[in-house]
Formats: sequence, C-alpha cells, structure tokens
Amino acid sequence: MIAIGSDHGGFALKKALMAHLDKRGLAYKDFGTYSEASCDYPVYAKAVAHAVADGECERGFLICGTGIGVSITANKVPGIRAALCGDCFSAEATRQHNDANILCMGARVVGEGLALKIADTFLDTPFSNDERHIRRISQIEG
Ligand code: RB5
Repeated sequence: MIAIGSDHGGFALKKALMAHLDKRGLAYKDFGTYSEASCDYPVYAKAVAHAVADGECERGFLICGTGIGVSITANKVPGIRAALCGDCFSAEATRQHNDANILCMGARVVGEGLALKIADTFLDTPFSNDERHIRRISQIEG
C-alpha cells in the first residue's frame, strides 16, 4: 500500500499520480487534501509519514508547491527517510543508497510527465543492500 498526500499546491499533480497508480494496478491510500482550497501542508505530510513509519503503508508520496515543506515535515518523524526529487537520477539513487521510504515532489517545479517518471523510478528501484549504505542509514538516527 502506498500512502499519498498533498496540500492545495500539489492537489492536481496528486490526482494525476493516483490515476497513474490506478493504471499500474498499485494500491494507495489518499490522506488528503481533497480539494484545491488553501490548507496547511504539515497536516498531510505528518499523516503520510506516520502511516509509513507505523507500517500501515510501505512507501509514501508527498506533493506540495515546492516539495520542500512536506519533506522537512516528513523527515521529523522517526524512521522516515523522505527524499525531495526533481529528476530520475536522484529518485534512483535515493532508493539504492538511502532506502528512502517517501518521495516528495514540487508540483510548481516539475511537470506532470517528469513527475510520473520520477515516481515510477522511485517505485521500481530496490535498495542496494550494500553494507556501506546499511551502515550509513543506521547512523542517521543512531
Ligand atoms: C503553498 O503556497 C506552498 O507554500 C506549499 O505548497 C509548499 O511549497 C511549501 O513548502
């Protein structure tokens, strides 16, 4: 199960991402927001981050205008490694090296086509399981 959330700035891209996940046959849970009305991004970032940290969902997607507010918020939750990505190389590397469990994107930064490719890259790239990366990840919260 994928947790997905956005504020108003990311609402349209979140809808496109959910349609894309539907096409891929991947299950997700939408933690809001549910309209373009102005709202506060930490509410949705915390909901998605806790769903992932608690094990309710394996991965998460968070979208706001820049992706910055949701990434700062999500990374405050223990066990969360949220990566703000605007390109496919970073999405691939953060899965391989950081075992990132939440992908953050900025809807005012990346277009829909690129955002969907970044999301696919994030979903389809496994963690390397290399000893050095396991060691470094353990040092993040150690
Ligand atoms: C909302 O205007 C905007 O501040 C928000 O979407 C996000 O970019 C914050 O980091």
